[in-house]
Amino acid sequence: MSKATQRHGQAHDELNIESLGPTKIDSPLLAKRGAPKDGNPSEAIAWEAFTDDSQRVLKDATLASLAKFQEEGAVPACFEEAGARRKIYFDPSKSRAGILTAGGLCPGLNDVIRSLVMTLFYRYGVQNILGVKYGYQGLIPSYGHSLMQLTPASVAEIHQFGGTVLGSSRGNQSIEELVDSLERLNMNILFCIGGDGTLKGANMVAEEIKNRGLKIAIVGIPKTIDNDIGLVSRSFGFETAVAVATEVIRSAHTEALGAPGGVGLVKLMGRDSGFIASTAALARGDANFVLIPEIDFDVDGPGALLERLYWRIKNRGHAVIVVAEGAGQKFFAGEAQTTDASGNVLHKDIGQYLAERIKNFFKDKDLELNLKYLDPSYIIRSAPANSTDQVFCSFLGQKAAHAAMAGKTNCLVGQWNDHFVHVPIAMAIKARKKVDPMGELWNSVLERTGQPSLKAGEA
Ligand code: F6P
Repeated sequence: MSKATQRHGQAHDELNIESLGPTKIDSPLLAKRGAPKDGNPSEAIAWEAFTDDSQRVLKDATLASLAKFQEEGAVPACFEEAGARRKIYFDPSKSRAGILTAGGLCPGLNDVIRSLVMTLFYRYGVQNILGVKYGYQGLIPSYGHSLMQLTPASVAEIHQFGGTVLGSSRGNQSIEELVDSLERLNMNILFCIGGDGTLKGANMVAEEIKNRGLKIAIVGIPKTIDNDIGLVSRSFGFETAVAVATEVIRSAHTEALGAPGGVGLVKLMGRDSGFIASTAALARGDANFVLIPEIDFDVDGPGALLERLYWRIKNRGHAVIVVAEGAGQKFFAGEAQTTDASGNVLHKDIGQYLAERIKNFFKDKDLELNLKYLDPSYIIRSAPANSTDQVFCSFLGQKAAHAAMAGKTNCLVGQWNDHFVHVPIAMAIKARKKVDPMGELWNSVLERTGQPSLKAGEA
């Protein structure tokens, strides 16, 4: 084997999906897919709706990357396509599935739960579907949370509401205890809907299951309004959060226009990535300054934020600033750091800090300042999913159900290059996705806002 193939072999292996065993059972979908046409068996009609493990989606869809693999005589790195398999691993009539939601709320959680239940129940005939309350806590006996029986009737209307009918929680639980519970409950499938922390937990649970030689599928559905999960082009709820954030920027702009020296300052969620701030700013085109964790900026000094803001007010009379909550944390260096139950650093309030700094700066200036500070906070993530997210969530629930029934495990379902794919959880949690300072999104923000470097002393 050539060195190139060996190198590639390694990369490829990393994207391989673990499976609980050979798939020997005919999928009930084969029989259910539409009425036979012209007396033909359903097989012919069903064909297009099925996929198999040989269907792969390129990780990098550029010609340059393809050419590189070709040159090396290697198969390009690719993901397994998600979707219904003709043969499945689990016997639906004996299957018992659990669903949990963990971490912060996100628009679309209920839509994913609903889609999972509908697909498992109607497509596969799985009758035993249990909702695990408050994330991983719900599997730990000492918390005393009861399980919820989920049926098509009980989930029929839940997509009308934001939040999650199962409740959610942060924090680590004992992996041994979690797997003990799965064994005790005879659960052979667990869907973990959550972000980075939840998926790290799911990965550890799947490893423990493997160590014990059990046949329990762990399938993740990546969730975060921050859109920062690796190897997933878009996480559900992000679009809705951006849509709500966009409305807040619109209000900030209206307020800024309505008074002399009007400044609308909007703080948006986005713990360590500026996807929400950048995308919402792009959607509106009203923002003059966009501050995100990935891009360093100064407040004081020539060419830094305050000076640029002064000239913007002087020349144009108003300004809109959008700041992501994780931006500018360097201004709090030396202050004690705290973490949440998932171990995430709790950021200091950059919005309040900037509001104070702006007010103080303008005190002795020749310009009137009318600063309006808007912090929509949890409002952007407690909203019900918008229609685009609803469709997306519906797909994710279906694909996750198909993956689990086929015995796929330690994987998540996500979208990549416009396809739904299976991603090994271990790969997705390796690194959080960030806004690329040289990439298209940030460049577009710079183009749209005309924002120069905000580093003191830089042109
Ligand atoms: O990760 C999603 C997110 O909404 C972040 O944007 C935010 O920093 C964090 O969760 C807040 O979560 P909570 O206050 O619920 O712990």
